[in-house]
Amino acid sequence: MKHYQRELDIIKKANRFRQRKIYDKNLVDLASNDYLGLASNKKLLTNAYKKVLKEKYISPKASMLVNGYSKIHQKFEQKLCKLNKFEAGIVVGSGFLANIALIESLVRKKDILFIDEDYHASGILATKLTQGLVVVFKHNDLNDLESKIKQHQHQNTNRIIIAIEGVYSMGGDIAPKGFNTIANRYNAILLVDEAHSSGVIGKNLLGWFDYHSIKPQQNHIKMGTLGKAYGSYGAYILSSKNIISFLENRAKAIIYTTAPSLFDIALGIQSLKYIIKHKKNISKKIKCYQDIIKKDLDMNVDSLIVPIIINDNKKVLEIQQKLINDGYIVGAIRQPTVSKAIIRLILKLDIKKKDIRKVIKNIKGLING
Ligand SMILES: Cc1ncc(COP(=O)(O)O)c(C=O)c1O
Repeated sequence: MKHYQRELDIIKKANRFRQRKIYDKNLVDLASNDYLGLASNKKLLTNAYKKVLKEKYISPKASMLVNGYSKIHQKFEQKLCKLNKFEAGIVVGSGFLANIALIESLVRKKDILFIDEDYHASGILATKLTQGLVVVFKHNDLNDLESKIKQHQHQNTNRIIIAIEGVYSMGGDIAPKGFNTIANRYNAILLVDEAHSSGVIGKNLLGWFDYHSIKPQQNHIKMGTLGKAYGSYGAYILSSKNIISFLENRAKAIIYTTAPSLFDIALGIQSLKYIIKHKKNISKKIKCYQDIIKKDLDMNVDSLIVPIIINDNKKVLEIQQKLINDGYIVGAIRQPTVSKAIIRLILKLDIKKKDIRKVIKNIKGLING
């Protein structure tokens, strides 16, 4: 008997079938989240490797609370806290685990979590694990959030937690500063997933708090990942001493899992140093790429994500395949990840300007053709 055949057939019929593939490495990559092109920087890799080689153990061997926590983890946490001006920090295995850890542990009975409808799937999954009330608000809509807070908050409510992303992974848009104002107005904790914003926005390229010049306070939580602009793998959470300590004591996705890979964190340290050292040039280049999009597509982009709405699952796959034939790989994002199918371009800084222009020209031709 072939298990799940009926379900697979339904997925295929809706043009939603997905399959992992190894693409030709010579394709110009406008699909991946390696925003700054650090994933091909061999110097960073060599430096990180040398640091790990100096250690007695090359693997964490255990969870952080047992004996898996190392000086490499601690150094990264301390560097991040100092730069981002947060009191405390903790490394986590991945962004997915970090969202599970945060939402599962922090949203307790009598608490209410208000979460943006476009929040990452890991956060939405985690809402199924909490005992608190979960209320979804319209994407980036301050009025909807505030009216829902007024509607649901009552005398018995303990904490209010608001969950947003700094830069949204599919739309590339930035959460407005007003979320911080609302969080302060209602004495709420503000959780910001910075997977796509850290390394890309802000005067110091540190992300959402930096971009809006918000000085971290006791109610702020910043979750950053290493798998995107940092060209590595893993994640971190920065917040107050109390919140970090609570996570260390209650978050199952932190407690019951092997500590993050030493090499990946060592590479994260190298990337962080690189970004800080080259922030002026990186920022200049980001602006230049955004200007190309303004000129060639008449679109204002705030990050390095360019969503081009196609609204047809079959057509996005056709466009993607035709671009592959021309030597380019782009994201063909369909439901359920997005409500309307999009071609998603990532303006990786290691891509030549002429290639970005050519891809845009080809896409325009394919849309109209
Ligand atoms: C907004 C957002 N949060 C969290 C994650 C998960 O991070 P990770 O890939 O490190 O598990 C991702 C992407 O993968 C993401 O786009």
